[in-house]
Amino acid sequence: MELFLSFGSNIEPREDFLKKAIFYLREKIKINKISSLYETEPWGYKDQDNFLNIVIQGESEEDPDDLIKFIKHVEKKVGRGESFKWGPREIDIDIILYGDKIIEKENLIVPHKFFEERGFVVVPLFEINKYIINPKSKRKIEDIYYNVDKRSVKKIDSENFLREIYSDLNINIINEKDYEIEIFDEISSTQDYLKENFSLNKLVLSKIQTKGRGRKGSYWFSEKGGLYFSFSLKPFNYIYFLPILVTYSMANVLKKLGLLDLKIKIPNDLYLNNKKICGVISEGYFKEEKLAGEIIGVGLNVNQSKSDFPDELINKTTSLYIETEKFLFLDEILSLFLSELKRNLIYYENENLDHIISDLERNFKIFEEPFIINSNGEEKRVYGKKIIDYKNLLVQDLNGKIFNIPLHFIP
Ligand code: BTN
Repeated sequence: MELFLSFGSNIEPREDFLKKAIFYLREKIKINKISSLYETEPWGYKDQDNFLNIVIQGESEEDPDDLIKFIKHVEKKVGRGESFKWGPREIDIDIILYGDKIIEKENLIVPHKFFEERGFVVVPLFEINKYIINPKSKRKIEDIYYNVDKRSVKKIDSENFLREIYSDLNINIINEKDYEIEIFDEISSTQDYLKENFSLNKLVLSKIQTKGRGRKGSYWFSEKGGLYFSFSLKPFNYIYFLPILVTYSMANVLKKLGLLDLKIKIPNDLYLNNKKICGVISEGYFKEEKLAGEIIGVGLNVNQSKSDFPDELINKTTSLYIETEKFLFLDEILSLFLSELKRNLIYYENENLDHIISDLERNFKIFEEPFIINSNGEEKRVYGKKIIDYKNLLVQDLNGKIFNIPLHFIP
């Protein structure tokens, strides 16, 4: 059921209290929209610092009594000390609307009893959805907004605040049983870490990488805002289709998120609107000279803005935020990716990839960009013509000659 919650904090660090509250709430409430930050003068008891307020729109199936219990528990966890009515507080979370429910109990009144008079709720609520109706008063938010006193409600620059919220990694959201998960705030490279601490079916994530590695000795720019992870899989009989499959899985996630102009450059670059958005690296892990597993690294640019990228990258690289002006939760994208990959790995194990091959050819412009092949030590630039099967590709060189190559010719 759709719900709207309002948050306020007037004890420093106010933004951190709001961030933490959202982090914990996400365990039971799926958050779809977060308003900008608003700074507002205190209500009721005036002799205290200004508040920072936001409103979120989310979904929950919790029973209202359980929901309010959970919210109180989150307030405590975030650090709400004892205060008095309308007094200063680290965090205050109110249920404003819960679907069409009208609840009038001693401990819970929904819709919130006074929200229509409070600019610090109505203004952010109007920002995220002006068409909703208060089921109790039957008034439209739009109408309430035009009548409420907005004088002490000031919208403040929220870009970094929102970027940080969306770029946090919450292990409870990933909720993945197939992998043992490790999350870092910062690491040199998830790929190198997994290589040094290898075990099968491990997933390593980091919010920042200081030495993110790309393919062929390049670096992968990994400031806060992107999704950077590496995972291990058992060795496969035939490994060379794996990077394509991983790239394809991420491409499908982005397609499902509504992104249209996607292109895969074989074997493992993903482009959005002709700029690189995702890279995949796939390396064998050897133990006593025997292949013991595969380590796959994925970097996806999600919440970075243009100014986050160094100059030399900005013309060829992009992020989902740059292309859509919307922030996305990194851990939600990762969950979507892992379930998509899981499905595709089963097809791979069963060597049943024909439908994936035709989907790749139909939807992801895989033959638009040339790529390098390495045949017997000689490097050549070629265009793909057709995927013959998951081990062979028909290509055309720059002289027009068409020939068949095995996938492992692509370095
Ligand atoms: C490429 O396109 O060159 C591949 C980029 C792969 C980057 C990812 S980010 C997570 C993982 N850790 C690394 O150091 N590299 C990969």
